[in-house]
This record gives sequence, structure tokens and C-alpha cells, in this order.
Amino acid sequence: MPVPLLDLVAQYRTIKGEVDAAMARVVERQGFIMGPEVAELETALAALCGARHGIACASGTDALLLPLKTLELRPGDEVICPAFTFFATAGTIHNAGGTPVFVDIDPATFNLDPAAVEAALTPRTRAVVPVHLYGQMAAMERLLPLAARHGLAIVEDGAQAIGATRTIDGAVRRVGELGAVGTLSFFPSKNLGAWGDGGLMVTQDDALAARLRKLRLHGGAKQYHHEEVGFNSRLDTVQAAVLLAKLPHLAGWTAGRQQVAARYSAAFADHPAIRPPVTDGANTHVWHQYTLRVERRDALVEHLKGRGIGCAVYYPTPLHLQPCFADLGGRRGQLPATERATTEVVSLPIYPELAADQQDEVITAVLDFYR
Ligand SMILES: Cc1ncc(COP(=O)(O)O)c(C=O)c1O
Repeated sequence: MPVPLLDLVAQYRTIKGEVDAAMARVVERQGFIMGPEVAELETALAALCGARHGIACASGTDALLLPLKTLELRPGDEVICPAFTFFATAGTIHNAGGTPVFVDIDPATFNLDPAAVEAALTPRTRAVVPVHLYGQMAAMERLLPLAARHGLAIVEDGAQAIGATRTIDGAVRRVGELGAVGTLSFFPSKNLGAWGDGGLMVTQDDALAARLRKLRLHGGAKQYHHEEVGFNSRLDTVQAAVLLAKLPHLAGWTAGRQQVAARYSAAFADHPAIRPPVTDGANTHVWHQYTLRVERRDALVEHLKGRGIGCAVYYPTPLHLQPCFADLGGRRGQLPATERATTEVVSLPIYPELAADQQDEVITAVLDFYR
């Protein structure tokens, strides 16, 4: 039985009535730009993130770009980020006028290593972009004091981690709650996915929220009046309507992902060739990806493909070795934990609709390879 890496059609079948009706309401109104659903979504997601403000925008990429733009980076200004992440994390630093400085990861969680961040600080460092990779939060409690001491902004890349939490000093903290800005992506494959591109920024800061609202609308709070040069980066009303229809299901979907992850991890525990993902004890993981470290990774990928089991490598090339960043002087061997991860990781199908027999099929296919 083939098992796809992701099955959005299966999700659609479970919510078709609600989401089609939400979409139809927007179509009947023909209110495609900044309709009431956008503000409703912003309020709901700010609350989910424990933030005062939510500002929707056109993509998870723009959700990073806009706050980075507010830093007014000058040539040579540095922003620290992991090299083991999706390209947008660093591409937006470049496009905001800064220089990405790539640091290594904690090999257990795949998230950036706070000690490496500290070691990478220079007088030109302006910000840090931690990524809550695969669905669990980075060690924010170690980054925040660093940022406070050195006057740095923290922009949390929460694209993969909507609803994830981390217990810090006995308090449950959410993605986006602690950084100057936190970001979400609604790319269709995300835990909360739109029917196209979409993103959202959250912040506790009233002035910063007002500035981000302007930046997404050509730099003006009033029509045809522009205080600065901004962007056209609105979230479409139809996307907001889809996301609002999906939002009540998110907690249940996350629980479904957690069940699949638990089943996989039990099946792969103690296997000499397979290392299941590690959840930091302070975190609740929302399992955007279920990512193993394995021996003979590329051969396993071929084997799974042959059996019709979807899988993917996130990410095969670390960002410090991407051709577009060659002028930054990145070299092989510079970030050992990152480079090792790129050769060992493989992500398996994980979504709440994944049936028990499909999960068995995935588990058997992986274990068969090592038999
Ligand atoms: C870690 C990370 N950052 C940023 C993004 C960018 O989001 P988008 O594709 O919505 O622009 C993504 C997802 O695609 C991501 O996984």
C-alpha cells in the first residue's frame, strides 16, 4: 500500500462543508482584499501565540522579511541564524540588507545552539533568528538574556511550530510570545495550511505592530499616504477564511500528529541503525515533521520510494554551503553538527489522517530495510 508523505485531500474531506462555506461567503461578498476574516484571524492567532498583536501577511517568508526590515540593517550588519533550516530564514536576512551569520545546531533537537550564538557575536550583530525546527521550540531562555545583554532583536521563525510550547521557569511559553516578533507560515503543507501562500507576525509591542501593519501595505497607515516604502504583502481574505475554518481543528490535528509520532518512536526505539527524534523535556512538540537520523540514509530513501512510501530530506544542503552565499566564505567542516544532520536525516509521513495500517506500512518498510 503506497503511503504519501502528505495527504491534503484526506484533510479536505474531513472539513469540506465548513471550509467550502467559509470560502463561499467571501466569494458571495466579492471582498477579496482585507475583508473582516483577516482581522478575525489575526486576533485568534495572536491569542494562540500569547501575543498582543497579530499581523497577517502574504507568506511566512514575508513574515520574516518585514520585521527584519524594521531593523534598518546597514551593509555589514550581522544576523545570526542556523544553517540547518529552510532557505527563507537566511534569504530574508539578505533581502533586508543584512549578512546572515550561520551557527551550528544542537544535534539532539536540530535547533540552533545558544553557545554557538554567543560565540558568533560581534560588534556588528543586530539580531538572532532562532528557528523552531520541525515543530519544537528552540532554547529561548538562553537566547533572551544574550539578546538583552547585547541589544539584539530576536525574530522567532515559527513557520513549522504553530502551537508549540516550552516551559521556562515553570511557565508555559508559546511560539512567538517571547521574541520581538514571532512568525508563522500557512504554506499548504504546514500544520495550519492555507489554500495558497500566507503568513503572520505576532508581537507584544504596540509600536512595532503598527509599523508592521504599515510595511505590509506599501508603508502607509492611510490610503495614498506613505510614510515609508513598504510592500504589498496582505493575506488574501479567502486564505483568512480557509484558515479560520481550519483553526478549531488545529488542536485535534496536533494531538493526532503526536499520536503518530509516539507510535513511530515506540517502533524505532533501541534500533541500532535508527535514532528517533528527541523532544526536549521542556517542550511540547507539534510534529510538523517526524525526522529520524538513520544509517545509510540515501539507500533508505531509495528503498522507501521503491515501496511507495513518501519521505523527504529536510534539508540536504546546509545554508552556509549554498552557492548564493559562497561570498560569505562558508566551508565544509565549519558547522559539523549541521553538516552531519544533512547526511543523516529523513522525514516520514506524519499527519492526523494517517491511518493505523498506513503507519504500520511505514514502520515495516523502514525496519525491513535494516533487516
Ligand atoms: C523554517 C521556515 N521558515 C520560513 C518558511 C517560509 O514560509 P513560506 O513558505 O510561507 O514563505 C518556511 C516554510 O516554507 C519554513 O519552513
